[in-house]
Formats: sequence, C-alpha cells, structure tokens
Amino acid sequence: MYDVENIRADFPVLKDNIYLDNAATTQTPVQAVRAMEEYFFKYAANHGRGAHHLARQTTDHFENARETIADLLNCPAENTIFTKNATEGLNLIARGIEWQDGDHIITTLIEHHSDLLPWMELRERGVELTIVEPDNEGHVSVEALEQHIRPSTRLVAVTHISNSFGSIQDANGICKLARDHGSLCLIDGSQSAGHMPVNLKQMDCDFFTTPGHKGLLGPQGTGVTYIKEPELIKPLIIGGGAVRSVTTTGYELEEAPARFEAGTPNIPGGIGLGRAVKYVQEIGVSDIEKHERRLAQNAAYRLAQIEGVEVYGPPDRGAVVPFNVLGLNPHDVAMILDETRQICLRSGYHCAMPGIDFMKIEGTVRASFALYNTEEEVDALVEAVEQITTLA
Ligand SMILES: Cc1ncc(COP(=O)(O)O)c(C=O)c1O
Repeated sequence: MYDVENIRADFPVLKDNIYLDNAATTQTPVQAVRAMEEYFFKYAANHGRGAHHLARQTTDHFENARETIADLLNCPAENTIFTKNATEGLNLIARGIEWQDGDHIITTLIEHHSDLLPWMELRERGVELTIVEPDNEGHVSVEALEQHIRPSTRLVAVTHISNSFGSIQDANGICKLARDHGSLCLIDGSQSAGHMPVNLKQMDCDFFTTPGHKGLLGPQGTGVTYIKEPELIKPLIIGGGAVRSVTTTGYELEEAPARFEAGTPNIPGGIGLGRAVKYVQEIGVSDIEKHERRLAQNAAYRLAQIEGVEVYGPPDRGAVVPFNVLGLNPHDVAMILDETRQICLRSGYHCAMPGIDFMKIEGTVRASFALYNTEEEVDALVEAVEQITTLA
C-alpha cells in the first residue's frame, strides 16, 4: 500500500514546508544523501582510472548507479550517458549530429527553452526549423506533427510532459511517426522520468534526456541522456577518459558511454542519483504516477471551481498544475502563498516563453507534485488561493 507518511519521513525538509515546486527540482531522500556521504567518508577516489582498491570501489559504485538508471528506463547501460542536467544532454545531441545544409527539424511550441534554443541555434548552420503549435490544452498530436514532416526532416524533438501545461504527449506514437519517415526522434523526459513508467525499448526513440534532480530524486548537477546509436553523435567535450589511444597525430575515441564523459564526472552525484533511482523503484513508478496524478488532477479541479481562478492544461494531466488568480500577478500570488502558508511553488514563464505566450497570458503560478505530497497539502493550497482571490 502507498504509505505517503512513511515516504515523507525520508525527506526531512518536508517537516516544515509545503513543497510544490517539484517540476523545478525535487527533494532528495536520506538514503541517497547517505550514499553520497558514504562515498566521501569511506571510499572516495577517481572513476575508472586507478588500479587501487578505492578507485575500483568508486568505479563499481558509479557503474552500478548507471545500471540502476538504465534498468528504470529499460535501456542498455552503455547507451546511458551521465550529464550535468537535461540541458547539457539536449545540447550534446544538437551539437553532436553532423547536420547538412537544408536538414529539417520539427519541434513544438510547448518546449522548455532547453529543448528549443539548441534547435534554434542550428538555423545559423542552414538547418530549417518548424515549431508546431499545440491545441489549447497543450497537446501536440502525432497528426499535427505529421503534417509538417518532409523528406528532409532529420529530427523530431518533443517533450514528453510539458512543464508549462502539464499535458502528456504520445511519445510512442511520435517516435513511430519519426521512424516511419526515416527521421530521428528525441524525447525530452525531464517531467516524465520517475513520474511515470518510461520504457525506452518500447518507445524506440533515438535520444531521451532527463535531469537527475526532478522525478528521479537525485542531487542537482546530475542528468542522463540515452543515445541509441552513439556513433551518430560527436562528443560535446573531449579529453581524459574519453579516448582509447592518443598519439601526437591523432586519437581514437572510447566506446560509449566513456567517449561522452571526458574528465572527472560528478561521481558523488551519480552515486546519489543511482541510490535515489533505486528508491523510486522500491516505491514503484506506477504507484508514484497514480498518487501524483490524483493529487494534481484533484488540485486542478478544485482550483478551477474557485471564482476568479483560471487553470491551464488538460484535465488528464501529469503532476503539473499551472493557474492564475485573475487580476493578480503570478509572482505576487506565489509570494503570498510562501509568506502566509510556507507553500513553495513557482511563478512566471517557467523557461517556456513561447508556450505561455501562446496562452495569451503573462506567466502562471505553477503547483507541481511529487511522490511525497499529500491531500492535506492540496487542501492548504486550495484554501490559501481561495483567500487570495478576495484580494483581487
Ligand atoms: C521539460 C523540461 N525540459 C528541460 C528542462 C531543463 O532541465 P535542467 O535544468 O535539468 O537542464 C526542464 C527543467 O525544468 C524541463 O521542465
């Protein structure tokens, strides 16, 4: 049975705060923090480059973490690359593909800036970009994307769950569409990994990016990118650890994942992320998904009942609930919620300006849920917003 009070005991910061800013970053369970502490206090060394026992122990823990994450996403560990966040992974793909003049990319208006700017920048290199509009609830359908596919379409890049609407895209359908037309497909899983079951084997995408510090509950400074065919991608950075041999005239890159991880990686972060992912697996992603969606859908429904409150996104949403109190600036609403009820949530454009502009509003207040949130916290949010409407 899903025991939210038991889960909360693993996140001490929740004792005195109502934390509803999980789409920005989540809290990390004590088990993962202890795994990092253990690294520092018991066996810290560098990864993969020493014969001594501490280096071997460090390498084992780091590689076990990779295996755990690959297991959660159902993909091979050697195709699972550690990055510092999702943004780095997205840039790795955008800058790593050998683009040809006239190549075409399809993305959407609901993307986070990190899944938009790297493609926009490629226009300078002769790549054409189509940015597909969503429907009013923030969905971009397979059919809408299909209308823009051309023989030159090299990549379709779409977010799995929108961080500005909360809408869930048909990732499997989008990847199939791309495959059927000979294109590559990238899914930005920043708001889906750890929040819902993700099966990369079934999805059959070419690239999947996620931070480690959101639904996967890991520390900040961690992320993971899956690359189906590593030879397609030129590493973003090169140097120690990424090469098999070097002479003064050239070098031979290592196989993946090492070729993409030049330099000393975030070893404690990776180990902490691995333990956090194990924690997610122990609770069960399907149960987490059910719990979070129940809270988010309930919050959205109840907020929408309040006169003077507008809620955005579809009823069947992920764990993200954007709203506004009409007549009040979203930042003021967020500040009042923090000052009066210690409710931490985000306000503004959420690094998704084109999508928010599309809604014809100037930002939203965004409540976003994680496995440790409760119905009582939804009650507190709804009551507080109700009171705020009297100020408008
Ligand atoms: C959909 C989406 N993509 C990408 C990112 C960027 O993640 P990071 O800050 O870890 O690079 C975010 C962060 O909010 C996001 O929500």
